[in-house]
Amino acid sequence: MELHDLRINYGKGEIDDRNLPESPFGWFGEWLADAISKGLPEANAMVLSTVSDLGKPSSRIVLLKAFDERGFLFFTNYSSRKGHNITLNPAGSLLFFWPELERQVRVEGIILKADPVTSDEYFYSRPLESRVSAAVSPQSAEVPSRIYLEKMHKDFLESLKDDKVQRPDNWGGYWLFPELVEFWQGRRNRLHDRIQYDRSDSEWKRCRLAP
Ligand SMILES: Cc1cc2nc3c(=O)[nH]c(=O)nc-3n(C[C@H](O)[C@H](O)[C@H](O)COP(=O)(O)O)c2cc1C
Repeated sequence: MELHDLRINYGKGEIDDRNLPESPFGWFGEWLADAISKGLPEANAMVLSTVSDLGKPSSRIVLLKAFDERGFLFFTNYSSRKGHNITLNPAGSLLFFWPELERQVRVEGIILKADPVTSDEYFYSRPLESRVSAAVSPQSAEVPSRIYLEKMHKDFLESLKDDKVQRPDNWGGYWLFPELVEFWQGRRNRLHDRIQYDRSDSEWKRCRLAP
């Protein structure tokens, strides 16, 4: 198998310029709903990229847990590598890729902590074992072994008098407030559709970009 021979000619959809929404959020919701209704695995998974204070980028997958006209919400450990990046440099980006639909959405903006009520609501909706993992895992820190992690998890579970695991102070939500959103639909002969929304002047402006 030669990598340079791997090639797909896209043709599952197109973007009609005559029908573009004013704001990108409704459109994003339609594409996400398409991905979910088609049963795509982890349809709400997105690549989150952050940048260190020294300008070094890093990326990882997180799950989108809500979005509205403000932005996109995800949950994580505030003391993790991404958390440290965001504290020192709030610029970030999200990337969704739904290959079965030949679609990509790029989002760029500023990341800010969600309020504690939002974080509590989601944390206490999670299964007990997941809450315990959030409480015991020093995300992104070096640990001695798998056994060490499992022992911490088991000891914590056994020490519980009831199902009440407090949300750790260093675990919660972040909102990414977008300044730029781009919708990409694969087309024949690599002549793809790209529509960009830009809010640098407080109102959303849209344009078509060359593929
Ligand atoms: C499908 C999938 C979903 C994930 N969802 C999350 C998530 O919602 N929150 C999170 O903190 N990590 C999530 N992770 C783990 C992250 O990719 C990453 O390993 C972790 O957050 C540590 O990243 P960091 O060291 O860069 O901070 C997920 C990974 C995968 C593959």
